[in-house]
Amino acid sequence: MTFKPVKKAIFPVAGLGTRFLPATKALPKEMLPIVDKPLIQYAVEEARDAGIEQFIFVTGRGKGAMEDHFDHAVELEQVLTERDKLDDLQTVQTCSPPPGQLAYVRQQKPLGLGHAVWCGRNFIGDEPFAVLSADDLILAEPGCLKQMIEVYNQVGGNVVAVEDVPREHTNRYGILDIESDDGKIAKAKALIEKPDPKDAPSTLSIIGRYILQPAVLRELDKHETGVGGEIQLTDAMASLIGSTDFHGTRFEGKRFDCGSRLGFIEANIAFALSRDDMAEGVSSILKEYG
Ligand code: G1P
Repeated sequence: MTFKPVKKAIFPVAGLGTRFLPATKALPKEMLPIVDKPLIQYAVEEARDAGIEQFIFVTGRGKGAMEDHFDHAVELEQVLTERDKLDDLQTVQTCSPPPGQLAYVRQQKPLGLGHAVWCGRNFIGDEPFAVLSADDLILAEPGCLKQMIEVYNQVGGNVVAVEDVPREHTNRYGILDIESDDGKIAKAKALIEKPDPKDAPSTLSIIGRYILQPAVLRELDKHETGVGGEIQLTDAMASLIGSTDFHGTRFEGKRFDCGSRLGFIEANIAFALSRDDMAEGVSSILKEYG
């Protein structure tokens, strides 16, 4: 069986990033760098490498730096050309997807992840789509979304990336109630958003990568609120179980929660160590602090 290809992706980037104040007072949290590249660029590159051709940013007030980042920087490019800094020029020019592939829509009120995704609905139409959270940064080869698309091509329906978390952390994630599990792909019979550890049906948690059918958007049309009074994406996906298969897939690679300060610092270290031009220098710095 062949399933409709996934060519569109939504990036919910309206969050305030209060855990990184004051850095995020005037700077979108998605622009914080891991080594020398903003978080959002990692997510866009992961999507592009997975075959995504339309990038839909659900943004908010004060997020303009992201639009500039994915645009031509005319003066900078001119100076780099004049100075013959061709490597830097290429770095700057290859940031952005081709013209017309990026769209921005504002989430005017912070009503939850489900609401953010719903704000992108008119760009999605009747096609499957991906959702990528830039906070969840994944060091993987091939990228996490590409791995997920391979699984989606086998099972169709809704597919999310999952990983096991310590039981005391279940109240931070959407959690799968598992029907069957082959060790890589788990089929869910229900989903619960941020359950108390004592109530969690498993410790298999959703991380910020989704492949979704457009039916999810019809569920989100209802604007039903859940945990925290927010419109939850997890609830909309859960309502479809029964009519649309739901699978969680484990992935090869390491995820960093860059919405937390420690996760962000760890990601910087791990990404630097994974680079030929930085590994040696960073290891020797780490030894000093060991
Ligand atoms: C959101 C989702 C949650 C998911 C998590 C992954 O929560 O609601 O189900 O597990 O993203 O990062 P948030 O982190 O926005 O609170």
